[in-house]
Formats: sequence, structure tokens, C-alpha cells
Amino acid sequence: MNILAVNGSPRGKHGNTEQLLQPFLKGARDAGAETEVIYLKDKKIEHCTGCYTCWGKTPGVCAHRDDMEELLEKRRQADVTVYATPLYVYTVTGLMKDFMDRSLPLAQPYITKSGDRYAHPRRYEDQKIKKAVLISNCGFPGRQYFTGLVETFRNLYSKPGNELAGAILCGAGIMLGIPEARQYIQWYLDACEDAGREVAQAGAISEQTQSVLERELIDFETYVNNANAYWDRTLAGQSQ
Ligand SMILES: Cc1cc2nc3c(=O)[nH]c(=O)nc-3n(C[C@H](O)[C@H](O)[C@H](O)COP(=O)(O)O)c2cc1C
Repeated sequence: MNILAVNGSPRGKHGNTEQLLQPFLKGARDAGAETEVIYLKDKKIEHCTGCYTCWGKTPGVCAHRDDMEELLEKRRQADVTVYATPLYVYTVTGLMKDFMDRSLPLAQPYITKSGDRYAHPRRYEDQKIKKAVLISNCGFPGRQYFTGLVETFRNLYSKPGNELAGAILCGAGIMLGIPEARQYIQWYLDACEDAGREVAQAGAISEQTQSVLERELIDFETYVNNANAYWDRTLAGQSQ
């Protein structure tokens, strides 16, 4: 199995999202998958201009000439795409949104119906079932902030031949970047590793692992008090 992970954090390897992504990929590799990570912050990806050249004049080929050409080819080859993005204003980052918009050449312009839904069919029918895994974290404690993000990916992967294989959605994500907190959240990172192994072996995150991944890292009050104390110290230091 070939897994392509796309990290949409502007903080790339140094971000909190990466702390969830790496154990997931380790689990997948341990189960025999081949993995690759693309850091979108290091890529040149123009905004989609909505010209539809990729649907009309040059089917499957975008008018822009940039790093997206190479990334579309990688997406075509991948069995699983992992979308790893921090939550920015309740959705994906701008980097990730550009990557998603610029994936339009992989779809055809026609609108087809499947069940009660309409969608654009895939351009390349040689592809097997395409799976996606969503990995995200956010600054607020709790999971209700991810609802818009999850809905986007449910829509995106509900068309025939596409499947959402699971989601890792971690509130109180600042915890992920604090080395001293590691020992208290290792159980969560272990579950990320289990999730990667399961996707590589069975094609989906198991219900049992998914239920662990839905537990909170820390009680909300402790988290918020510490976060606010951090900002008190930081802002006090700046005014001296
Ligand atoms: C522009 C911006 C928007 C954000 N929007 C949200 C948000 O809507 N909800 C939330 O809980 N956290 C929000 N955050 C916090 C990030 O999700 C959080 O810091 C996360 O850990 C960053 O992950 P990263 O280190 O991988 O970039 C936002 C941060 C930034 C910079």
C-alpha cells in the first residue's frame, strides 16, 4: 500500500499536526506500507483561478505550471491520501485549501448521480478505491470545533470509488508540542500508531482505536488555565 501524507501546516515539521502524523505513518510502515510526506509550505502552489482549462481546453492539465503537477501525479499513484492540517478558522489551512482546489484536474466536468448525491466522476478510472485519512488538531479543548472540517471530507470522499478510512481529530492540540507533556499524552500517540497500522492492514481505523482517539488529552479547565497563564507571561515579558 502506498500512502501519501500531505501536511498543510505553515509550521511543517515543527508543528503540532506533525506530532500526530508521524506515529500514524510509523504504524503504517510497520505494517508494510510505503509512506511519503509532502510539506505544502515548501511547495509552490498557485491559487486556482476557476478558469476550467483543466476541464475544457487541456483536460486533466492545469493552466498553472508549478509544483502541483508533481503532486497530482503522486496523488494518482497513492492508495491512501492523508490530509494532515491544523484547524484554521474551523476548517483546513489556506495551504491545504489550495492543494484541494488544485486537485480539480483529477475530476471530470460531468455531474453524475449516485444514490441521493451528485458528484464529478474521477478522471482516471484506472485507479482503485481511493481512501483518505483526516488528521487534525486545534487550539481549543474539545472536538465540536471539527464539525465543518469533517463535513467537508465526508462530502469529498462520499462519491463512488472514494472512502474516508478514518479521522484523528485532537482538541487541546498545544499539548502535542510541549515536550514535558509527552508522558501524559503518549497513550494518544500510541493510538495514532495503531490507526496507521490498521489502515495499512485493514484499510480503515478500527472502531476500538477510533474510540480511543475520541478521548480528550486533558481536562478543559487545566488546559485553558495553563494556556492563559502562558499568554500572561508572554505579554508581561514583552511590556518590560
Ligand atoms: C490563523 C489561525 C487560525 C486558527 N483557527 C483555529 C480555530 O478555528 N479553532 C481552534 O481551536 N484553533 C485554531 N487555531 C489554532 C491551531 O489550530 C493550533 O495552534 C494548532 O495546534 C496548530 O497546529 P500546527 O502547529 O501543526 O500548525 C488557529 C491558529 C491560527 C494561526
